[in-house]
Amino acid sequence: MDLKDGFGRRINYLRLSVTDRCDFRCLYCMAEKMTFLPRAQILSLEELYRLARIFVGQGVRKIRLTGGEPLIRPGIVELCHDIAKLSGLEELVMTTNGTQLTRLATPLAEAGVKRLNISLDSLDPIRFKTITRIGNLGHVLQGIESAQKAGFQRIKLNCVVMNGRNADEILNLVDFALSNRLDISFIEEMPLGRVGGLRQERFCSNDEVRAKIEERYSLIHSAEQSGGPARYVRIPAYPHSRIGFISPHSQNFCSSCNRLRVTVEGRLLLCLGHEKALDLKQLMRRYPESDGRVIDAIHTVLAQKPLRHEFSLSGDPQVLRFMNVSGG
Ligand code: 5AD
Ligand code: SF4
Repeated sequence: MDLKDGFGRRINYLRLSVTDRCDFRCLYCMAEKMTFLPRAQILSLEELYRLARIFVGQGVRKIRLTGGEPLIRPGIVELCHDIAKLSGLEELVMTTNGTQLTRLATPLAEAGVKRLNISLDSLDPIRFKTITRIGNLGHVLQGIESAQKAGFQRIKLNCVVMNGRNADEILNLVDFALSNRLDISFIEEMPLGRVGGLRQERFCSNDEVRAKIEERYSLIHSAEQSGGPARYVRIPAYPHSRIGFISPHSQNFCSSCNRLRVTVEGRLLLCLGHEKALDLKQLMRRYPESDGRVIDAIHTVLAQKPLRHEFSLSGDPQVLRFMNVSGG
């Protein structure tokens, strides 16, 4: 089976959010005071598994579990174990903030999670606390170390760069990645939800990030793709690391979009930058025995996947969903 959208883009990548909750409150992701969804409104573990099975049956080859923080969802390791075994799925991966990895890295790797993306925006404990509002850098660094020992195929650090917050740490973060043989991606902040503060003022373009790195290293283009929107470069002397740039503003990547998202409430989002969605939770609960009805609805709505996001940093965000609901 193949999933194709109305522009002929083949959809083989699903990002599935397993919780809206998180033990951090990163200032680009959440408002300071968040209310989280009641349990009846979020997908059960069985429903998450059913969706994974349905999408893999329709041609999805890679699933990323996201949140919120996926590792604080009870039962997450068992869910990974079950999804990883779906025949046809090539890769199960996860995005995490790293706080639970000292406990869960090994069980996750054993359950079949192949790669991890770990958020790391600062190497300074005080700044780290400011950016995450409550996070403890030491826990995350220990988590990264545990993940390295657990035997994942790749570990990538994700860093949202903000002027006045962490833009002066770019080279430190690169050096940290290189010396630990990790990949690192720099991400331009996206205007999702009202999070407080002025996004326009702290916006740092990936062109600037790249120029900063080139002050110390010469970068060579890499044609590698990880199935996501990042473009990669390498530093010849450090063959174990790749540096990625995810640039929703400065380099639009929508024409090669291959992904869909399912929110923790079971809404199938066609694009991070649009509100258009299909309520899969309602469909699954209405047709508990019949995947066919759900599959038909997915194919129908996919024809309406927008060509591209229209993000702009000025004015109010067009998309009021917070990132922790959409799946980071
Ligand atoms: N813009 C860009 N990236 C974001 N993330 C969360 N919120 C935003 C945003 N507004 C990313 C962070 C984190 C992952 C969970 O989602 O990189 O690592
Ligand atoms: Fe939590 Fe990730 Fe959002 Fe930070 S960016 S608050 S770690 S979900």
